[in-house]
Amino acid sequence: MEETRKSRYQELCKLLNYHNRLYHELDQPEIPDAEYDELFRELVDLEQKYPELQTDDSPTRRVGAAPQKKFRPVKHAVPMLSLRNVKNEDEFREFDRGIRKLLATDDDVEYLCEMKLDGVAIELTYENGLLSVGSTRGDGQTGEDVTENIRTIKSIPTRIDNDQNNTLDIRGEIYIDLADFRALNRQREEDGESIFANPRNAAAGSLRQLDAVITARRPLNMFCYGTGRYEQRDVATQSALLRSLENIGFRINREGTRQVTGVDGVLDFYRDCLKNRDDLPFEIDGVVIKVNSLPLQQELGSLSRAPRWAIAFKFPPRQATTVVENIGLQVGRTGAITPVAHLKPINVSGVTVSRASLHNWDEIARLDLRIGDHVIIERAGDVIPDVVKVLTERRTGDEIDIPLPNDCPVCHTPVVKAADEVVPRCTNPQCPAQTMERIRHFVGKNAMDIEGLGEKQLQQLIALGKVRDVADLYTLEQEDLFAMERMGKTLAGKLQAAVDQSRNRPLSKLIFALGIRHVGEHTAKILAHHFESLDELRAADVESLKNIHEIGDKVAASITDYFSLSENLALIEKLLAAGVRPVAEAHIRSDGPLNGKVVVITGSLESLTRKDAEHLVETLGGRAAGSVSKKTDFVVAGPGAGSKLEKARQFGIPVYTEEEFLKTYGGDETND
Ligand code: IVH
Repeated sequence: MEETRKSRYQELCKLLNYHNRLYHELDQPEIPDAEYDELFRELVDLEQKYPELQTDDSPTRRVGAAPQKKFRPVKHAVPMLSLRNVKNEDEFREFDRGIRKLLATDDDVEYLCEMKLDGVAIELTYENGLLSVGSTRGDGQTGEDVTENIRTIKSIPTRIDNDQNNTLDIRGEIYIDLADFRALNRQREEDGESIFANPRNAAAGSLRQLDAVITARRPLNMFCYGTGRYEQRDVATQSALLRSLENIGFRINREGTRQVTGVDGVLDFYRDCLKNRDDLPFEIDGVVIKVNSLPLQQELGSLSRAPRWAIAFKFPPRQATTVVENIGLQVGRTGAITPVAHLKPINVSGVTVSRASLHNWDEIARLDLRIGDHVIIERAGDVIPDVVKVLTERRTGDEIDIPLPNDCPVCHTPVVKAADEVVPRCTNPQCPAQTMERIRHFVGKNAMDIEGLGEKQLQQLIALGKVRDVADLYTLEQEDLFAMERMGKTLAGKLQAAVDQSRNRPLSKLIFALGIRHVGEHTAKILAHHFESLDELRAADVESLKNIHEIGDKVAASITDYFSLSENLALIEKLLAAGVRPVAEAHIRSDGPLNGKVVVITGSLESLTRKDAEHLVETLGGRAAGSVSKKTDFVVAGPGAGSKLEKARQFGIPVYTEEEFLKTYGGDETND
């Protein structure tokens, strides 16, 4: 018995160390968090029951993984602890009882409830108001120096207003919004690169780039939730601490925070978050409950690995087991063919799923997946889940291997697979599936933004022969639209207005919309700032493209390849002939009326979306910033503006209404 216990103990240590390394150092976990937590608990239980088993290098004694050698180590002035977990109401009640016992009180405890963001923990050190070091948690004592990468994140101020001028350590979570995560993976898939398993891995991988230019292109964001060294006036509770962080310029998750008294308040918050998690723009994997009073936190103190005064209350995993009934093939707009698992329909935390993403054949090989396999699937904020694991022990021997396709599933042209790519491609540019996807990309929100043309509508227009390429959208007549199902006068009118409006989209949007390989939104913006027109871009050779900052060999070659094809040139001619006149962005910047100005937009706007307003600021040469500081030149505030407006008033920064702003700067800039 003793021997089996010891060997299980050693096995658990080995397993946890292995998964720790995959998670923390390589950002490539093999098992879901819930499974890791399970193993970890088993180890904690064993150590509690049989303390003689515990070794000095037990995974329970370490917070994360040792820092990687590629970054300079940074010692945290105050160790960065982790959190203990509870998984259900009973376990939380037990935590609460423990707290009241330690504090020797029968009264309800005041807690601050926060959402538990699923990203990467980070510490920012500010000296004399300036960001001096940004570091990862590492093993809790020593992290990695990622300062240069941190500096590229827009929501992190490099200068703060700290009138006490002492050294401050600010802590929080770096994460990627789900929409940005999906866009990033789509681009990587199109580029034949491996995709990130989830937003957390994408954030971690982006943050630990050796080249900060790559980090700068990734849509990283930060919410702050705590501190290391931090002495500020009038901060006696966790909620006051968050307010104080917000006041000196940090982003906090205000909507995701609630102060409550007693267990019931905590449970209400937990249930609300669980109910709303699918509607949040980012992924959360639970809530964090903290004793609100800082003196009481002090009194409660910490264990070796985690504080006594806080707990992570995790959500049940969005996982389920089902069977892969078949493998479907999807053809993307560049011909990339990706496999999709067709599942026996199953309910995963309230949503019926029947498809799972598989991304590419490397992924199938990694999972060792076959048709007929039982698999564990997991939804990460998405309706379309991922396959996380194949239950090989449930195989019967009747499972079927998934072959690479020889032909395109739609047009049956033989496929080609380049040595450096993970996906095979259909090489027929006339392939109906590619046409469909190209048009869908073209009308997308971040491209030409033509609302009202979903997959169903496009399918009909394509089937009716009304639309063969994106330029045909601009010559559609009312009757063509009426030929579609459920298309009345109002809808048709709206659609036509949307098509019309898109004629004058910014040049960067059109460049992106064309779907040139390796030209994502970011690259399209760079190109639009460099070239005055599509004509100029078309005339550029590889050398001059490569001279542009951030444009490398691969992208330059892809652009010239695109413009060397006669069908692409014909398409552009057709677009121009149909009246598409993108608005140049290149010349507007340097002599724009907002040149060098920093503008903050806050509250809700009426005639512009936030994005459009920020775009307007940028096209006029200004910079749209996320937070108000002394460097802010003016603030545009709409109804509902809160702390940013307050702060602008505090600093005496001019505040304009949307109307005033548009009167001065709105002009006719989109039509010039
Ligand atoms: S507080 C001493 N608050 O969850 C308290 N953590 O292991 C330390 N996390 O490392 C953390 N959201 O990366 C705290 N609102 C929140 C959080 C949060 C996410 C992460 C953080 C931490 C891990 C828990």
